[in-house]
Amino acid sequence: MDTEFSGETICARGGWVPKFATQTSNPPIYMTTAFDVDGLEQLDDIASGRVAGYIYTRDSNPNHEAFAADVARLEGAEAAVACASGMGAMTAVLLAHVKTGDHVIAAKVLYGRTGQMLNQLQSQFGVEVTFVDALDPAAFGQAVTPRTKLAIVENISNPLMEVADIPALVAALGEVPLLVDSTFATPVLQRPIELGAKLVFHSASKYLNGHGDVMLGVVAGNYSAIRKVRQMMALFGMNSNPMECWLASRGLRTLPLRMARVSQTAQELANYLRTLPQVARVFYPSLPEHTTHAAATRLLPAGFGGMLSFELPGGRESVAKLFKALEEIPFSPTLADARTTVSYPTGTSHKFMSAAERASLGINDGLVRLSVGLEDLADLKRELQTALNVL
Ligand SMILES: Cc1ncc(COP(=O)(O)O)c(C=O)c1O
Repeated sequence: MDTEFSGETICARGGWVPKFATQTSNPPIYMTTAFDVDGLEQLDDIASGRVAGYIYTRDSNPNHEAFAADVARLEGAEAAVACASGMGAMTAVLLAHVKTGDHVIAAKVLYGRTGQMLNQLQSQFGVEVTFVDALDPAAFGQAVTPRTKLAIVENISNPLMEVADIPALVAALGEVPLLVDSTFATPVLQRPIELGAKLVFHSASKYLNGHGDVMLGVVAGNYSAIRKVRQMMALFGMNSNPMECWLASRGLRTLPLRMARVSQTAQELANYLRTLPQVARVFYPSLPEHTTHAAATRLLPAGFGGMLSFELPGGRESVAKLFKALEEIPFSPTLADARTTVSYPTGTSHKFMSAAERASLGINDGLVRLSVGLEDLADLKRELQTALNVL
């Protein structure tokens, strides 16, 4: 009875919910650092995998396992592991696959911070990195050396929405495993493992969660690759948080609906924006003039996603005016929220490149990136048109 204990003891040990006969209809959030273990024998059974159970949340947690298992199934992969952010997941993959003296091939167009991370690995840890045009599979093949341990490509790429030919890249790379950053495509539009990639990566902060309220990353692949990534995740403390995993699991419930909707709206907006005199160029794979229209049509039959970019002839000044005029569409340096947002690659995702590097990739100062949300198409057209009229 409570009266047997002092207030200090009740406070310190409280919060316990007794077992009850009915299951929760939705998974609870296991906000716990550790799990009470029923003796040393059980500890050994759980640690060796003989018995299902959990010990310490940095290693695993039911919410983590639920989210990772869903992503693995959606990607057609054997296993997956989630980390504290997309960058955390990329760190865990790189630590698992490369060491000093190894070689990595990376697409020239990558999320800016991923490129920056690879440069850091090169300068600080002596991992050699060769940046290659992802639209040129032969160049990927030519870059392979006996020391090459991993190749990385982003598909659909940020910010020009280019679609790489994954099967051709896999063929050119031979034995070298390919990791695809599939953040923009999601498993609804493309399943890279079925196309021969060994690993698929997501910033789950984006579409997998889909509501702009989570930081999370995930990598899927075969058991042995993911076991290594998981070891690095736990060892270097890049584990995800139960609450974030729970939110992202909930986000996944509507992923197919959201991807279908944003793909449809983005395609309509791309068609519309390219008719406007204030817009110099629109980048969206459905457009016949897009560099990778043919590959996209062949490789993304379910749609091209919710991301598009457009160029304003007036450069940074025009972008600043547009952002000010967009009253309800916020400038938010993320993507894949339920609401439409705009971003500025030169000042955010690709800020860490030199102006010359950006120019060589076709990212200029007038480029605006639009993350199309779930709003009504007519409302979005009207808002964009009204704002562009100030230019
Ligand atoms: C394509 C892509 N990859 C990786 C990342 C990094 O993910 P996070 O921000 O979750 O660390 C981002 C973030 O914007 C991204 O857009």
